[in-house]
Amino acid sequence: MNKIGLMDLKREYPLLKKDIEKQIRECVGSHRWILGDAVTGLEKQVSLYLGAKYAVGVASGTDALVLALRAMAIARRDKSCFDKHDEIITTPFTFIATAEAIVHSGATPVFVDIDPDTFNINPLAIEKAVTKNTVGIIPVHLYGLGCDMGQIIKISRENNLFVVEDNAQSFGGMYQDKKLGSIGDCGCHSFFPSKTLGGWGDGGLVATSDHKVLPLLKALRNHGQTAAYDASYIGYNSRLDSLQAAVLLAKLRHFDKLDNLRRTVAAKYAKAFDTMAMVQPQPVRKGYRHAYGLYTIKVSAGSRDKLLAYLNANDVESRVYYPVPLHEMKAFKAAKVSGELKAVEDVKKRVLSIPMHPFLKDNEIDYIIKTIRAFFKT
Ligand SMILES: Cc1ncc(COP(=O)(O)O)c(C=O)c1O
Repeated sequence: MNKIGLMDLKREYPLLKKDIEKQIRECVGSHRWILGDAVTGLEKQVSLYLGAKYAVGVASGTDALVLALRAMAIARRDKSCFDKHDEIITTPFTFIATAEAIVHSGATPVFVDIDPDTFNINPLAIEKAVTKNTVGIIPVHLYGLGCDMGQIIKISRENNLFVVEDNAQSFGGMYQDKKLGSIGDCGCHSFFPSKTLGGWGDGGLVATSDHKVLPLLKALRNHGQTAAYDASYIGYNSRLDSLQAAVLLAKLRHFDKLDNLRRTVAAKYAKAFDTMAMVQPQPVRKGYRHAYGLYTIKVSAGSRDKLLAYLNANDVESRVYYPVPLHEMKAFKAAKVSGELKAVEDVKKRVLSIPMHPFLKDNEIDYIIKTIRAFFKT
């Protein structure tokens, strides 16, 4: 058996090749390689897909967060950036970019605990962390599963806070009847190649249904310009590249098919792990549609690192997302922590992500399950 990768982007290419190449040829032929038809076309298609009124393509998922936060500072606080005393509540159990964006926006991250079963931010911990300095919340839909957006929106309304969703890992997921990344004031998406909708390089997008936020995002991604060569804000060069948009337009047309294939893989994993006491499968919750950006199991703290080494030694690539929570990183020493982070401390020693992509073959899934069974001798 060849090594089974966490992802395998090579396998999707033959299926998408014709469509992608056609779309790229159109983009090349248009000679509009900055903010051309491919970008506006993708923005239209993604906003329709998400059920958000508007979508703004930007250079990466990280920039999507930074621009969304800057837009919140301008729209809600009438200032260019937040100040250090402005607090934004988020989870420390996420990728660096979430809190990095908070710091770039001028505000201070406040880390709170997660739900140990869903790995997502705990709304009760958010409620306790709200102070007179809190300006907003960033829920991160981790691994593909949505946060408890009902509770989070309720807390935000009661306290006049904005909600910027970090949906970098969960494009295609749903909370009740809404697509993740279309529920808060802004939804931030990443098109990093390994994401559920991934480009051929960096890319990102902010979705919003707020007509006042839309022009701010458009200005911020283009040097703060509100008219040609006239800037109202200090902005960025953060436009989504047109060639990336062309690739993504083609891939979006195949998205539902690939999403269903991922779902089939997840169902096979769940069926097997349900019979194994030592392995907690990736949770599924009523009212949530998982996007399976990653497939993450939870095992005991004593066995995780040994299982990780065993799987990699037996040609099953696996990885820990995330071994070091953000509050433990030097970069975030000026951030705040609210309450205890007991679930984060526990979960960081127990999670393990195993291969998950639409093109996993049955014999590979069987082999992965068999290898995990062999490790636990069940
Ligand atoms: C939760 C989360 N937020 C933000 C990002 C940043 O996205 P990008 O790599 O497109 O900048 C990532 C990327 O991995 C992520 O996983």
